[in-house]
Amino acid sequence: MEYHRRSIWLNEERTGIFVIDQRLLPGKVETFFIDSTEGAIHAIQEMVVRGAPLIGVTAAYGMWLAARENDGEENFTEKMVEAATKLRATRPTAVNLAWGLERQLRLLAERKDSGSVVEALFNEAEKITEEDVEMCKEIGQQGLKLIEEIATHKGRVNILTHCNAGRLACVEYGTATSPIYVAHERGIDLHVWVDETRPRLQGAKLTAFELAEAGIPHTIIPDNAAGHVMARGMVDLVIVGCDRLTSNGDACNKIGTYTKALAARDNNIPFYVALPSSTIDWNMERGEDIPIEERSGGEVSTITGSSKGKTCSVTITPENSPTANYGFDVTPARLITGIITEKGISHANKDDLCKLFSHEPSTNH
Ligand code: MRU
Repeated sequence: MEYHRRSIWLNEERTGIFVIDQRLLPGKVETFFIDSTEGAIHAIQEMVVRGAPLIGVTAAYGMWLAARENDGEENFTEKMVEAATKLRATRPTAVNLAWGLERQLRLLAERKDSGSVVEALFNEAEKITEEDVEMCKEIGQQGLKLIEEIATHKGRVNILTHCNAGRLACVEYGTATSPIYVAHERGIDLHVWVDETRPRLQGAKLTAFELAEAGIPHTIIPDNAAGHVMARGMVDLVIVGCDRLTSNGDACNKIGTYTKALAARDNNIPFYVALPSSTIDWNMERGEDIPIEERSGGEVSTITGSSKGKTCSVTITPENSPTANYGFDVTPARLITGIITEKGISHANKDDLCKLFSHEPSTNH
């Protein structure tokens, strides 16, 4: 296949979007074509695409496809609201999904020109895509300062990350990985501890794939080894991504992030959360109100990998043992050293976040 630096792109005819089928990585790099609303819903639900910013972008394109399917229909607006509702229901935790859909719905509601509605939604999806690239790029510049500072007095910088908050979770660069890529390009000697991130193993499969591709030294560790490497002085900095930041600075991210923050605090290791402003939920005050996705227990009772080029799953638990599969957890603001955004680094509290984004504390998004 044609190798693409971006995780989502238009086909040549501009009739649909290609994404990398992330279910098959790292064994196979294959594309998946989306040219209908149902296709976008399926891709998000089945985790062909995943990662907060990328599902937001995919959903925005999904609205373009819905407009194309329903253009000229009498009940067009109703159909569009229905499409947005279906897309929103695919994954409940990452706020970027709702954010991308809201942008498209707002555009529909506020449109005054008589041009094609399909084209208007397409242009907005393109704009959302390019904005994500720019925000992630800037997060890299902002986070670089933290890595540089450690490098000046220490030499090799050891960074720990959880799940995949890399380019595969966004359009390009990633959030947590963006400062890592920039620091590597600047010649800073660094090494990344990659948490494997059970049950779906986004760290072991996706982050490691990305870092290997970029030639960045890294080591995959089982999730439960993170406390040990921190306690032995082998970690200088933790940077993770985020699926929803509430206005008080609580950060919801892939399950297991909270325990990394606890271990980091106990070992005096700075713990940073990197995110674009599309991940901030100004309407939600506290992390405990965030809906936590519960996924199929099958992801816990089985392991999926590849054997001789074929994707296969094996069962690892007793047949009748129950499982629980919470997709995300909340790291309270008090455990977060700082929030790395495209606008700068903020403390994890409402005042600082509002100041950074010139957001009125009482108003909505
Ligand atoms: O369930 P996933 O794979 O969509 O979860 C992804 C994460 O939790 C990422 O850390 C998150 O989306 C960060 S966004 C760059």
